[in-house]
Amino acid sequence: VRPADLTGLRVAVTAGGTREPIDPVRFLGNRSSGRQGVALARAAADRGAEVVLIAAHVEQAVRADAVHPRVSIVPVGTAAELGAAVTSAAESADVVVMAAAVADYRPAAVAERKLSKEDGPLDEIELVKNDDIVAGLVEARRPGQTIVGFAAETAEDAADLRERGIRKRRRKGVDLLAVNDVSEGHGFEQPDNAVLIVGASDTVVAEASGSKRHVADAVWDAVRGARA
Ligand code: C5P
Repeated sequence: VRPADLTGLRVAVTAGGTREPIDPVRFLGNRSSGRQGVALARAAADRGAEVVLIAAHVEQAVRADAVHPRVSIVPVGTAAELGAAVTSAAESADVVVMAAAVADYRPAAVAERKLSKEDGPLDEIELVKNDDIVAGLVEARRPGQTIVGFAAETAEDAADLRERGIRKRRRKGVDLLAVNDVSEGHGFEQPDNAVLIVGASDTVVAEASGSKRHVADAVWDAVRGARA
């Protein structure tokens, strides 16, 4: 059993995957189950933190793991909704962890009625870029606030994954970046995960693999280390 070493900390965690509507029944989405984000929220609460969990399309059975007196859950749908919710939560958070898979693009227009083959062939959907939410959080970061990003990469090998993580941490301006390889049976839709955690010194400050709860605890340990 872990000590309540995050007591007094206010944290915001995003989880799941956003969905960008095409028409009333269709969307652009991704394979994120939300399990890693839910595990992060639960681990933080078990260790004493006050948690806001911003959950994008996390199914009920997964979300149930986050049910805890110190976790409040805010359900969201699109990247824009997730952005608004996490930006608001960040105003009073000591730590923000962006574990959600956020769509980089959305359809330029949402059809009011279901698109139908009878309307003629649909060859293209015009997309527009979504704002990079974490970039906005980094820009608005208060002194003492810690921002953690996640990145799913299809890397060639361990060295390539490390290099990608270091480059991305710098590009994103986050304090910590947890990078995971999604090319080989880890990550999305899996109970287990394996991450490298890259810190502000451009070094790997921790490596963790195993259950998503185990990975979550390693992330919180790294957050404690970064804030010490
Ligand atoms: O650059 P990439 O999309 O791989 O970075 C992933 C990280 O950036 C995640 O922490 C994700 O939540 C965040 N992100 C974001 N806004 C976007 C896309 C990704 O905050 N539009």
